[in-house]
Amino acid sequence: MTKTEDKKSPPSRRKFIMSSIAAVGGVALGGLLFLRDSLLFLIPGGKQQEFTKYLVAKVDEIPIGKAKEITIANKPVFIIRLPEGYKVYSGICTHLGCIVKWKEKEKKFYCPCHKGYFGQDGKVLAGPPPRPLDEFKVEVENSLVFIWIKKRRGGQLS
Ligand code: FES
Repeated sequence: MTKTEDKKSPPSRRKFIMSSIAAVGGVALGGLLFLRDSLLFLIPGGKQQEFTKYLVAKVDEIPIGKAKEITIANKPVFIIRLPEGYKVYSGICTHLGCIVKWKEKEKKFYCPCHKGYFGQDGKVLAGPPPRPLDEFKVEVENSLVFIWIKKRRGGQLS
């Protein structure tokens, strides 16, 4: 019987140096990204740049008590006109992310996935959703209704 030899050679000095440089570079890059995000969070002006203003309706376009559904960045958004003004909510259910529907007669949002209900104030009325619908800041200017949406990485809405 012959003895087999392990043909693997020990890692070369060059490989060791290159992997060390890659590891140190990764840690340094992580530190720089953390520092950048920390500064953006701490500097007041930096936070405002994360929001985008969207025109969502004309002031008289939606009668009081009615809602309008639009799509922004492929996400449903509901604009509701109440006697006290406009409210704008994300149409994404806060339970597992299904798309809610506005029930005109009941003045409620309904999520068909697990029978979740939200009021016209966005608060949970029934079902499993753990929190209200996400609400956007509304601004009325020159007879137009705008909302402010926080941008997330990858262009998603918040
Ligand atoms: S996803 Fe809406 S109730 Fe479950």
